[in-house]
Amino acid sequence: MFKFTRSRFLRQFVIGLVCVFMVAACGPSAEEAPEATEGGTSEAAATTLTVATEPAFPPFEAQAEGGGYEGFDIDLMNAIGEAAGFTVEFQALPFDGIIPALQAGTVDAAISAMTITAERAQTVDFSRPYFKAGLAIAVPEANTDVTSLEDLAGKRIAVQIGTTGAGQAAEIEGATVSTFDSAPLALQELANGNADAVINDAPVTLYAIQTGNIGGVKVVGELVTEEFYGIALPKDSPNLETINSGLATILEDGTYEEIYQKWFGEAPPELPEEAPLE
Ligand code: ARG
Repeated sequence: MFKFTRSRFLRQFVIGLVCVFMVAACGPSAEEAPEATEGGTSEAAATTLTVATEPAFPPFEAQAEGGGYEGFDIDLMNAIGEAAGFTVEFQALPFDGIIPALQAGTVDAAISAMTITAERAQTVDFSRPYFKAGLAIAVPEANTDVTSLEDLAGKRIAVQIGTTGAGQAAEIEGATVSTFDSAPLALQELANGNADAVINDAPVTLYAIQTGNIGGVKVVGELVTEEFYGIALPKDSPNLETINSGLATILEDGTYEEIYQKWFGEAPPELPEEAPLE
């Protein structure tokens, strides 16, 4: 009796030991253990970067139907990660919350069609420019008297909060500026007849018109500004070099051009190595 119990005990002990070893063998490998803190900044370059984006700005960033995100910026960031050896975890944030999050270090980087400006460069670091864009004015299709920013004096202008478009609108004499959380909401205000114009990034407004997301609206003539988008990082981030080298790689090996073709159906323009800042 006693003997039987002891051998059973031994058998179970051995089985238990085997289980412990198996669990240890199948657990997270050293490689997967992040060098960086979860979602935060780190001293050494991280293997997973948390990247903020405001995903209501197609074709740069949008919510994908089956979950997750899609767009030029999303493909670009993933390709940079692949080239530079890190994975990307996107985090949706309001556009005007992105720079504060970078400053607080709760995200590692941001890709959100963000224009490189002298003012922003005081609080965050930017990668080399990855896209050439500019602001455009949108007005009702029937409008014929608005052809430039000056023509918007005294008018009702809708913009997305915290954007360069909002900054331009704020400088227009006598204009009534209404701010919205997203560019589609500002464009909807125009389509509804509650605003006279929207100042927004040209590629986004044109895309909204082309895809039929917004009706009865047109873009006025020329671009009113020339702007370059950059990936933003906390000041002195150790990841800046990694991102710049990944970007350089995909600009050279044709991946950038492929992604550009996919979203814009044409060859990309030349990009400067640095954005001209006033
Ligand atoms: N390029 C403009 C800016 O930097 C607008 C960017 C808005 N981006 C977005 N994902 N909503 O201010």
